[in-house]
Amino acid sequence: MNNLNEYIYKRKSIRKYKIDPISIEILIQIKAQIDALKPLYPSIKTHFEIADDVKNPMSLKAPLYLIVSSEKSEGYFENVGFMLEQMSLYLNSLGLGSCWLGMAKPTQNQKTELPFVISMAFGYPSEELFRNVSDFKRKSLSEISEGADSRLEAARLAPSGMNSQNWFFLCTNGIIHVYRKKVNPLKAVIFDKMNSIDTGIALYHLFVASESFSFEKLNSFPERKGYIYMGTVK
Ligand SMILES: Cc1cc2nc3c(=O)[nH]c(=O)nc-3n(C[C@H](O)[C@H](O)[C@H](O)COP(=O)(O)O)c2cc1C
Repeated sequence: MNNLNEYIYKRKSIRKYKIDPISIEILIQIKAQIDALKPLYPSIKTHFEIADDVKNPMSLKAPLYLIVSSEKSEGYFENVGFMLEQMSLYLNSLGLGSCWLGMAKPTQNQKTELPFVISMAFGYPSEELFRNVSDFKRKSLSEISEGADSRLEAARLAPSGMNSQNWFFLCTNGIIHVYRKKVNPLKAVIFDKMNSIDTGIALYHLFVASESFSFEKLNSFPERKGYIYMGTVK
């Protein structure tokens, strides 16, 4: 895969698309990229399909959509976030824009038994594809982290559902413990899923920013009040 690092610092969600079709040659590259995706948890089965429509309560219309299904086992939301963010940055490298769609549903049955998780609109943008790093609206590092690590800026800039950025990074001695915010039980149905996917997205940005990357759930880790421990990056 190309180095996708540069896109972390200039990407944005694209919500306006040209109707121009995507050529077969480009679609072949996109499919090859799907087959080459690096999972966070290799044992979790996933399935990616390209569709030309989704049921979306929002008015956003794109020429194509990535539809992701996954086996429901521990860590599957983070795994999907990690993998689909790879697609988003890869699409940028082809001059294409994308937008995560948290509320859309597939219109057709998928060619898999695995349950649907989330989709992403993509296509040629009819707005600026990139922005300056100063135009990102994000929490400061002091709000989302403790300790220092040069890779944190990549995680800070990651996209999240409703831009909620409900993550926390605790850095000590070159390792990063990763957490997501605990939400009240009424909000949990929506936010546990979204915050877990978001954590997977931030982890992918950390992966891109790392020279070497491993991620595991440690048996012993620092607790953080109001947060759920997701794992540790080494
Ligand atoms: C899991 C997830 C779900 C999202 N769902 C939607 C959505 O349904 N509609 C939408 O317009 N944007 C959606 N977004 C995009 C976010 O609103 C966007 O990433 C965030 O506001 C930050 O803006 P940026 O992507 O331009 O950096 C979603 C993003 C994520 C990560």
